[in-house]
Amino acid sequence: MPSLHDATRGRILFGGDYNPEQWPEEVWADDVRLMKDAGVNSVTVGVFSWATIEPRPGAREFDWLDRLLDLVHAHGVGVVLATPTSSPPPWMGALHPETLPRTEDGSVVSYGSRQHFCPSSPVYRRYAAALTEDLAARYGDHPALTVWHINNEYCTHCWCDETAAHFRRWLSSRYTTLDRLNDAWGTAFWSQRYDTWAEILPPRRAQYIRNPAQELDFKRFTSDALMECYTAERDIVTRHTPHIPVTTNFMPLWPGQDAWAWAEQEDVVSVDVYPDPKDPGAGQYNAMLADMTRSQAGGPWMVMEQATGTVNWRTVNHPKPTGLNRLWSLQSVARGADALCYFQWRQSRQGAEKFHSAMVSHAGEHGRTFREVKRIGAELALIGAEVSDTVVPAEVAVLHGWDAWWSSTQEGRPSSLVSYPELLQAWHRGLWESGITTDFARPGADLSAYRMVLVPHLQLLDDAATETLVAYVRGGGTLVCGFFTGVADVDDRIRPGGMDSRLRGLFGIRTVHEWWPLDADVTVECDGFRGTLWSEELEPDGSAETVAAYRGGELDGLPAVLRKGTAWYVSTLPEPEALRALLGRAAADAGVRPVLEGLPAGVEAVRRGGLLFLLNHGRSPVEVKLPGRRFDLLTGTEADGGVELGRYGVAVLGEVSP
Ligand code: GAL
Ligand code: ZN
Repeated sequence: MPSLHDATRGRILFGGDYNPEQWPEEVWADDVRLMKDAGVNSVTVGVFSWATIEPRPGAREFDWLDRLLDLVHAHGVGVVLATPTSSPPPWMGALHPETLPRTEDGSVVSYGSRQHFCPSSPVYRRYAAALTEDLAARYGDHPALTVWHINNEYCTHCWCDETAAHFRRWLSSRYTTLDRLNDAWGTAFWSQRYDTWAEILPPRRAQYIRNPAQELDFKRFTSDALMECYTAERDIVTRHTPHIPVTTNFMPLWPGQDAWAWAEQEDVVSVDVYPDPKDPGAGQYNAMLADMTRSQAGGPWMVMEQATGTVNWRTVNHPKPTGLNRLWSLQSVARGADALCYFQWRQSRQGAEKFHSAMVSHAGEHGRTFREVKRIGAELALIGAEVSDTVVPAEVAVLHGWDAWWSSTQEGRPSSLVSYPELLQAWHRGLWESGITTDFARPGADLSAYRMVLVPHLQLLDDAATETLVAYVRGGGTLVCGFFTGVADVDDRIRPGGMDSRLRGLFGIRTVHEWWPLDADVTVECDGFRGTLWSEELEPDGSAETVAAYRGGELDGLPAVLRKGTAWYVSTLPEPEALRALLGRAAADAGVRPVLEGLPAGVEAVRRGGLLFLLNHGRSPVEVKLPGRRFDLLTGTEADGGVELGRYGVAVLGEVSP
C-alpha cells in the first residue's frame, strides 16, 4: 500500500489549496514564481473544479488543467489532485433535483453554495464516479501527481426518501430481523414498534424527543453512507494508480464521520485545522488535533488545510499575530505532520471566502503574511530531511470514540451542559500542561503499548471495549476514568447499577445511586479541589481507596475520586489545575515522565524522532534549561545548557554530532 512517504520522499510537503480557475492565466505565472520563492512543493488542485471541468452534463474541459499541471510540474511543485465531487454544478440540481439533500423537516437544500448532494443519491454517485474515472485516466500518469484527495470535508446530511430506503438497507444488514431492530431501539417505549421495514424512516422532525437509538443508528449510517461515496471514488483512482496514496480531508472533532473507521480506508490521513487565534487555549487545541490525527494515521499525517491568518466563519474573525502561524505550523510538525498545507494559496477576490486569509493575501508578496510563509517554507526545508517519516513517542493514550460521542449528544440526557469534545479537551489539557505527550486510541483497541490510559467520558461502551479496559488494568496498566462512563451498551441501553458491572468491579463501586449534574458556574467542594459540571452519588464496595471525597452539600462524605490499585475513577470534572495535578500524580505512579522537567509555563516540549521541539506559546521571551548540549537546526547554532525562546519562539534541537 502506498503511504505518505511516497509523496514526501523525505521532505515536508508545503503548500495549499490552489484554485487557478478563479484567476486569469497571466496570474498563474506569477503564482509559480511566488511558490518557488516560498519553498512551496505541493498544491492541492481541483477541489471545487467540477463546474469548470464539466460545465454541462457529460462535457469534459481538461485543457486548462493539463496546462496547469504541466506548469506547476515544470516548477518542481507536486500536485495533490482532488476529485471535485463536493460541489456539484448547478445543472445537476436543476436537472436532477433528487440529488439535492433534504433537511429533517423535508425542505430542499439548494445549490448556490457547496456540499449540496445527497450521499445516497444514485444519480449523484453515477456522475461523481464518471468524472473520477476520467480524471484518473487523464492524470494518473502525470508526473506532478503525488496524492489523490477525494472530495472535500464529507459533511453533508440528508433525510430524503432515497436516504430512507438506503437507511433501511443498512438497518436490515445490521439487525437482519425487525424483532432485533425493535429490541435494539426499545420501540416498546411510546408505541414506536415497527411492523414492516417500509415504515422505518430517518429521524425526521417530530413533536417531541425522538428515539435516541434510532438517532444513534442514523448517525452511524450517515457516516457509513458518506464513506461509501469515498470508497467508490477511492477504488476508481486506485485501479488507475495503485502506487499513488489516497486521502480525504477530515474536519477535526467532527461528529459526522467516525474518523477511526474512515482512517482505515485511507492511505494517508489528513485534516483541516483552524484553531481560533483569539482563544487562549488554542495552542493546546492544536496539539490535541495533531495527537488525534497522528493516532488515526498510525504515523505521519497531513495538515491538509490551515489558515495563515484569519478565517471568515467566526462571529469575529481575528488574524494571527506575527509568529503564530509559524508556531502552530511547527507544533503540528513536532506532533507528527509531514505536510503543512493551507487553505488557500492565493486569497480569492470574489465569492464567500474573499475575507479568508491565504498564503498570498490581498496585501500581496510584500505583505506580512507572505513574508512569514516564506520563512516557514525555508525552515521546513532545513528540518525536513531529519524530521520527515519519524515517530512521536507516547506512553499515554486517551480513549475517544464516535459511538460514545453520539450517545452523549442525545436529547433527554441528564445535563445538556456536558460537551463531549470539551471534556476531551479538558483532559488532554491536563496532560499537555504536565508536558506529557499522548496518543488517542479507539475504544476496543489494543492498549498494551501504553503505561497509562485516560477515559475522559465514554457514556456508551460496548462489551468488547469494556473487556479491553478490564484486561488492561489486570495486566498492570493505569486507567484513569472520567464520569458517566460505561453507562450504556452498544444499543444505548442503560446498564443496570448505573455503570457496567465489570467497570464497577474495577473501580470498587457497588452502586451508582444518582447522577448529580451541576449547573453552569456551580462547583462542588471536594478534598483539595473543586469539581465542576457533574457529581455522582456513589456507594463504594469497600475495595477502593477514596482519594478525595465530596464535602458539604448532598453528597457530603461520599467518594468523588476512587482508586483501586491502578484504576482511578473521577466522578466530577476537577477544575483545570486540579485535573492537571491528578493526572500528573497518576502518571508519576505509572512511571510516565514529562518530555522535559521544569519547563516554564506556556512552553511545550515534544520529541519527534531524534529531535526535541521547544515551543513558546507565550508572548514574552523565556529561557529553557536543557540537559547537555544540543544543536538548533533552525538557527544553526549550538545550545549549551539552555535556549532562549522569543515571543512564539520555536527551537528544533538535535544531538550535537561528536
Ligand atoms: C474548509 C474547506 C475549505 C475552506 C476552509 C475555510 O472547511 O475545506 O474549502 O472553505 O474551510 O476555512
Ligand atoms: Zn437524500
